[in-house]
Amino acid sequence: MTEHEREGFDREVDRIFSERVSSPARERSYECEKCMDTGFIQVRDECGREVSRKCSCGEMRRVRKLLEMSGISREFQKKRLEDFDTRNIPQLVNARNKAARYLQSFEDIERQRRNSIMFYGQPGSGKTHLGTAISSGLMNRGIAVAYMAYRNAVTRIKQNMTDEERYSEEIGRYMMARVLYIDDLLKGKVTDADVNIMYEIVNYRYMNNLPMIVSTEKSLEELMEFDEAIASRLIEMSKENRVRMQGEELNYRLYS
Ligand SMILES: Nc1ncnc2c1ncn2[C@@H]1O[C@H](COP(=O)(O)OP(=O)(O)OP(=O)(O)O)[C@@H](O)[C@H]1O
Ligand SMILES: [Mg+2]
Ligand SMILES: [Zn+2]
Repeated sequence: MTEHEREGFDREVDRIFSERVSSPARERSYECEKCMDTGFIQVRDECGREVSRKCSCGEMRRVRKLLEMSGISREFQKKRLEDFDTRNIPQLVNARNKAARYLQSFEDIERQRRNSIMFYGQPGSGKTHLGTAISSGLMNRGIAVAYMAYRNAVTRIKQNMTDEERYSEEIGRYMMARVLYIDDLLKGKVTDADVNIMYEIVNYRYMNNLPMIVSTEKSLEELMEFDEAIASRLIEMSKENRVRMQGEELNYRLYS
């Protein structure tokens, strides 16, 4: 390397090095500009003293975390009760009102036996829309909801049946969650193993008064035929909030 080359080389090293050390500081951007991600902001109290307060972003982060952990798809995280178009059809008006009242009164009924809600019947009538809207509404208030896409969840649990630890972990998520949303209950071909898994989850929640949001295309009679023990518990727990959807005209996929 000549003297000249050496100088060029050193300059290049200097340039790279100075960029590396200075750029994080220069380009730093905060997720929350208000508290610069410290979680606290300085405010003045009544006497004019500077005190620190918790920044509101902490709660927002918590809600985002809850939504991520719930397992609800991004598409359905956006569904809100306000976007539910009832088209003035009495069944849909009733469904939306039941969902809204449930969301509103959740904390009051949470510890009671009848603390659950169930949407059942007609495909495409907005059962999942309403269930996810309730779930998001609860999570916005900091209440954790676990989303259980029935068919996938049961398949996964069965795959872990030979590994006791993995099995308890997998099924435990659904047993213990503060609120469990079971979407499309008993969809597809149902085996004895499926029924046993669902019984374990539903019975645990029944015994401990843990609320469930349920959507299913089955009628109550069909649920009872599949398994009386599971169905009767769900029917009892959703006694105040059973929403039946019946009639093809409710299918949003066909009539929108
Ligand atoms: N009344 C409504 N207002 C606005 N959007 C609706 C309404 N009903 C259904 N949708 C939309 O139509 C699509 C289908 O609804 P959804 O998946 O909730 O139906 P479903 O009853 O769960 O059907 P399935 O039994 O097939 O699971 C969704 O994108 C949902 O947001
Ligand atoms: Mg659905
Ligand atoms: Zn903040």
